[in-house]
Amino acid sequence: MTADLAIPELTAAVERPIGEATGLANRAYTSPDFFRLERERIFAPSWACLGHAADVPRPGDLRPARLLGVPLLMVHAPGGTVRVFHNVCSHRGNELVGESGRAEGAIRCPYHAWTYDLRGRLIGTPNIGGFGVHEAAGFDRTAHGLREVRSESWLDLVFVNLSGDAEPFETWIEPLAGRFERLAGAGYQRRLRPAATNGELRFDVRGNWKLAVENNLDASHLPWIHPSLNRQSPLEDHYCFLDDPRFAGQGSSAYHTVPHESPPLPRIEAWPDRTGEYPSLYPNVFVSGHADHFWTMVLEPAAPDRTIERWRSYFVDEAAEAPDFESARSAIRERWASILSEDVAVVEGMQRGRSSPAFDGGVFGPVLDPPVHHFHRWVARRLAAPGTGRAPAPAA
Ligand code: FES
Ligand SMILES: [Fe+2]
Repeated sequence: MTADLAIPELTAAVERPIGEATGLANRAYTSPDFFRLERERIFAPSWACLGHAADVPRPGDLRPARLLGVPLLMVHAPGGTVRVFHNVCSHRGNELVGESGRAEGAIRCPYHAWTYDLRGRLIGTPNIGGFGVHEAAGFDRTAHGLREVRSESWLDLVFVNLSGDAEPFETWIEPLAGRFERLAGAGYQRRLRPAATNGELRFDVRGNWKLAVENNLDASHLPWIHPSLNRQSPLEDHYCFLDDPRFAGQGSSAYHTVPHESPPLPRIEAWPDRTGEYPSLYPNVFVSGHADHFWTMVLEPAAPDRTIERWRSYFVDEAAEAPDFESARSAIRERWASILSEDVAVVEGMQRGRSSPAFDGGVFGPVLDPPVHHFHRWVARRLAAPGTGRAPAPAA
């Protein structure tokens, strides 16, 4: 498979110094084989983002999710933790949970009603020993629980490591978490809560997930794609950061809050007034911070040319829920809906461009494009390293 994709040539072109480098070739955006290779070498060995913990807010809540075709299940388990399992029944392999919902004590497979508790243990096997006999000699339920996926949560984001052998999560997240903590001060996470209303957006994008990342790393399209935003927060007030291998991003020193009719929004006091920061944490999540609100966007690569983007906003203290702040939550959602829709159009345009025989990776400008080159290098290095694919262990 990899020989056809010419991975060594593709990565060598990216690895050159920025003035001589070529971007990732078209096949990285269009080929189903490349997409499968990304699952093996980029997503499985990494800490990839699966979704938002706010989607399973109460113990017993379930949400099916996919990571490059792998069916997974987010479970809000007893004790307040979100756990992730492979969403497949141990019996005959039926998809266990098809839609978000509640477990009401146990998760029951729709096919033959095998049941699992919220820790993934197999607790019911109706008729396995014949009609009305729910045990079978030699069948050990403890060996057939759900397969759990290594997972961790940070800032409402649920991350998974399918291979099971990525670096410790704390080590991996520390550079980005530390950057936010230096801006926001200790303890800011406890004050940020998911917006109870007007806090979600979803985009179904006809484009490869990497184009969405590249666009989020690119401040230089601001005057042309987002003219209204550029009037408030112009390109010349932007800066970029790319000093850690795990993420890069852009920031603005001219952020102005969105006009609204609510009382003034409570703020993270330490956060600089006019600063907005927009890092892309590789491979597939964006985090955005401002003094009065944060947002995150999770990219679900659904196909080489299709990405589902899920956005959520967060406010400080009571502003996340109180009716008084409804106008602010709504205005901020509308502002970002407009900007992010403009970005969707660009990602889709770049995807169409990847069908052109006259283009095969493009070039990078020396001043504004280093973050995109940084991301291409990260992808190239992951492709060059073999995936691990360690089998997951049954639930204990
Ligand atoms: S496949 Fe799930 S109970 Fe049979
Ligand atoms: Fe944009």
